[in-house]
Amino acid sequence: MTKTWWKESVVYQIYPRSFCDSNGDGIGDLKGIRSKLDYLKELGINVIWLSPVYKSPNDDNGYDISDYQDIMTEFGTMKDFDEFLEAAHARGIRIVMDLVVNHTSDEHPWFIESRSSRENPKRDYYIWREAVDGHEPNNWGSSFSGSAWQWDEETQMYYLHCFSKKQPDLNWENPEVRDEVFSMMDWWCKKGIDGFRMDVISMISKKEGLPDVPTDGGLYGNCMYGTCNGPHVHEYLQEMNQRVLSRYDLMTVGECAGVTIEEAKKYANAENTELNMVFQFEHTSLDAGPADKWCRKRISLPELKENLTKWEKELEGVAWNSLYFCNHDQPRIVSRLGDDSPQSAKCIGTILHMMQGTPYVYQGEELGMTNCPFGPIENYRDLESINAYHELTEAGLRQPEELLECIAYKSRDNARTPMQWNDTENAGFTRGTPWIMVNPNYTEINAEKEMADPDSVFHYYRKLIALRRFSEWSEVIVYGNYQLLAPEDPYVFAYTREYREQKLLVICNVSEKETPFEIPGSVSWKKEERLIGNYENQTLTRKMEMKPWEAMVWSI
Ligand code: NOJ
Repeated sequence: MTKTWWKESVVYQIYPRSFCDSNGDGIGDLKGIRSKLDYLKELGINVIWLSPVYKSPNDDNGYDISDYQDIMTEFGTMKDFDEFLEAAHARGIRIVMDLVVNHTSDEHPWFIESRSSRENPKRDYYIWREAVDGHEPNNWGSSFSGSAWQWDEETQMYYLHCFSKKQPDLNWENPEVRDEVFSMMDWWCKKGIDGFRMDVISMISKKEGLPDVPTDGGLYGNCMYGTCNGPHVHEYLQEMNQRVLSRYDLMTVGECAGVTIEEAKKYANAENTELNMVFQFEHTSLDAGPADKWCRKRISLPELKENLTKWEKELEGVAWNSLYFCNHDQPRIVSRLGDDSPQSAKCIGTILHMMQGTPYVYQGEELGMTNCPFGPIENYRDLESINAYHELTEAGLRQPEELLECIAYKSRDNARTPMQWNDTENAGFTRGTPWIMVNPNYTEINAEKEMADPDSVFHYYRKLIALRRFSEWSEVIVYGNYQLLAPEDPYVFAYTREYREQKLLVICNVSEKETPFEIPGSVSWKKEERLIGNYENQTLTRKMEMKPWEAMVWSI
């Protein structure tokens, strides 16, 4: 297996709107982020994935871009960006930009031109279709509710938007679109950025003929079936790789909705002809309902183990995994798989950080930040949650109270509440009025308090990261073979990692109950050394009584 810096890195994702506000307008900004670089340095990460900071009307908080080469007014200026980049580099922290090129904002000049007339030279930059019998050209639904087609009065045609109607999909079949995107990427690379996280990149090549797709019991066809892993996606990414990526020393990760193992092996192949790694969604979909994600099912541990193990084993040596439980689209893992307690946060962090792949920490995860008690739908800001609430209740498909409970559990806004810096008003995030509510538990869960407490989730994460990056076990943690133990055990997630002479044993009780665990006979050891654990005085014996959320990592 080839060794590279991006395999040995730990990435920290920043959602700028909610990270740190320097000017009191209630919205996080680049100067705010810069002021926290020393905090991140102390945590030990060496890469930041910055969610979009480009000019945007903010229909989807920056994932709707109106100028790829300018900065969102609320976040600051290009000078602020340059200073931030330089300050990060000075601390040995690399910057990975979010690349959102499946779609633009409808306020992007390309789209303004494209919609201006059927003859406009940029008409074909987007996906326009005639009405069919007076209605939409196919049954595709937008990921944010409603049809994926928007009627344009002016030119009497529909345009495709797999997300909100303010996010029209680009037409990647048009070589001019690809030229524009690649030269924009090149411009950022020349500026000195260190990589791209590519938003829904698996969706850029639509199925030939845009056919109707199954509805899965919902109101519309699931547009994922018509867009994910389409006929030309690998061709386009290889072209991107040749024309841009391969010319720089970058880290690339594709957000690949609908990706299977077979597809991942192509996107993230070891020959590096496309991307370095992908974000897959199988493990974050284990608690979804049949039609959509709005349900309160808990993730079953045996299913989670089976899924993560499949990805670990099958990509080994042929591609590379990204390891994540949290991001700006997911509820907080400590509320989803854990019980909101610091012990459960540490336990879940251990599982993830000891696996093979590149780990991603989402802002606040390192503090054990939890889901937020938003209450009524009016307190939400995320268009996915708000649209789903109205669409499903108005169609009589769901009862408002029941649906609201599911939204409370699954909404993306759970990840988007302001970062909890200290116990002063608004958690130290802003001196103004925050754009979204602050989780009231900030008086208990906050960075200042945790940094002062050696037993905190923060310090536990710091140790997990240090083990991977700076210890004598770095190689086995990054590159070691993975082997699951006791697959059927309903509570314990245990596995080994092995590299040359080194072997690690990871045992985590993913439950609030005391649980007996017997280490399978296939694992033997003469002496052991504990690398990390979330209880004092842990010992390793073949038969153990695991305490609630107990986690331990041994070198054996
Ligand atoms: C995936 C992003 O992670 C999400 O936040 C966004 O809403 C959609 N893509 C559309 O860009």
